Amino acid sequence: MTPTVDLAQARPIPVADWVTIPDLYADPYPVYQRMRAEAPVHWVPAVNRYMVTDYAACHTIEQDQERFSADETNSLMKRAMGHSMLRKDDPAHDVDRKSYGGVLRPNAIKRHWNAVFEQNCAKYLERLENAGPGADLISEFAAPYAAENLRLIMGFRNATQDDMQRWSQTLIDGTGNYADDPDVWAKAEQSSCEVDDAIDEVLPHLRANPDHSLLSGLAHLPIPLEAIRANLKMTIGGGLNEPRDALGATVWALLSNPDQLAQVLAEPSLWSTAFEECIRWIAPIGMYPRESTQDTVLEGVLVPKGARLGVVVGAANRDPKIFDDPETYDINRPKQPHLAFGGGNHFCAGAWVARASVVGVGMPRLFDALPNLRLDPDAPAQAGGWVFRGMLRLPVLWDRR
Ligand code: HEM
Repeated sequence: MTPTVDLAQARPIPVADWVTIPDLYADPYPVYQRMRAEAPVHWVPAVNRYMVTDYAACHTIEQDQERFSADETNSLMKRAMGHSMLRKDDPAHDVDRKSYGGVLRPNAIKRHWNAVFEQNCAKYLERLENAGPGADLISEFAAPYAAENLRLIMGFRNATQDDMQRWSQTLIDGTGNYADDPDVWAKAEQSSCEVDDAIDEVLPHLRANPDHSLLSGLAHLPIPLEAIRANLKMTIGGGLNEPRDALGATVWALLSNPDQLAQVLAEPSLWSTAFEECIRWIAPIGMYPRESTQDTVLEGVLVPKGARLGVVVGAANRDPKIFDDPETYDINRPKQPHLAFGGGNHFCAGAWVARASVVGVGMPRLFDALPNLRLDPDAPAQAGGWVFRGMLRLPVLWDRR
């Protein structure tokens, strides 16, 4: 239920005209620190959005679809991928979300996907080992591992993990194409057509030969093809880069903090803590959109109807009102829920898949396979991005057996 709000008492939203996109891309956290200290919400001309950086405000938005709709006007995501569940409110959202059934949930992971993760992990660890010390952990391991896992879960038997990586990147680039670059649109449209063709080709096969994949489940439901296409494109865009980035950033955080790595290696239950702390510290999806449906008050500031909001969970996850010493990666901090998987009705549908593939398999197998895994002092790791943030490169060394 929408709470009663006193519009007259609310403060106006300040303008942050000092924020630039290159600063956000290089390192958004000093920018977020300054914004959070000033106000929970700012109008940011460079981004053409109201950016919400305060934990309580982000949490409120996630829980209240009546005041804060996911169905954004002129959404670039809708243009790039079609109208997926991520840009719908309930009850329409709920219909699409239920169409995914149990495919991404713990039972199916235990029964079918853990074995797939093990197989894929072994394959791409071998690729990394063959590339030799000095190789980039992201391109040789984390990216193809995440892509192949997602390909098999989704049921794209007629595509490769390279197709998945290309589709994911170009569709995401479309959703972020605020500059309206025609080349970016052309690539996104090309990928969108390729995904449509792959779906059209594989659905009849799966109707005759069902398996455990998402596409197989969808093939047997009376759900419009347009919804299947949009939801699958959104899942390709949202289910590949994030586990890749979470794995890469957690490895980077642990290799940069050898005492914490030693703790994890001595106590394997801490792989999970290391992962959750990492996605708090660097949220792979740093910001996602909502639109206000009415004039309203958010943490004391007046948000006008129709405001294009950016829910900056990358900033909320470092809110000092919630987390002590929030800029530091610390697996020993007191447990406190982070917002990296979102919340409310759009809480990440793939959170269990991410945890099982990265915490259950990817990270422990990686550290088992490569003795004395360490950063390469001559080739520094580099992180980048703010709407999506992860390792751009992570060169690593290890001792040969
Ligand atoms: C560490 C990895 C991941 C992170 C941090 C992450 C983060 C998120 C976030 C923040 C949202 C909500 C966005 C919003 O409300 O606008 C979301 C939604 C979603 N995610 Fe993930 N995700 C991850 C992995 C995955 C994986 C592996 C899959 C698929 C296998 C997946 C599938 C989805 C889907 C289908 C939704 C839409 C849910 C809905 O609208 O009801 N995600 N994710």
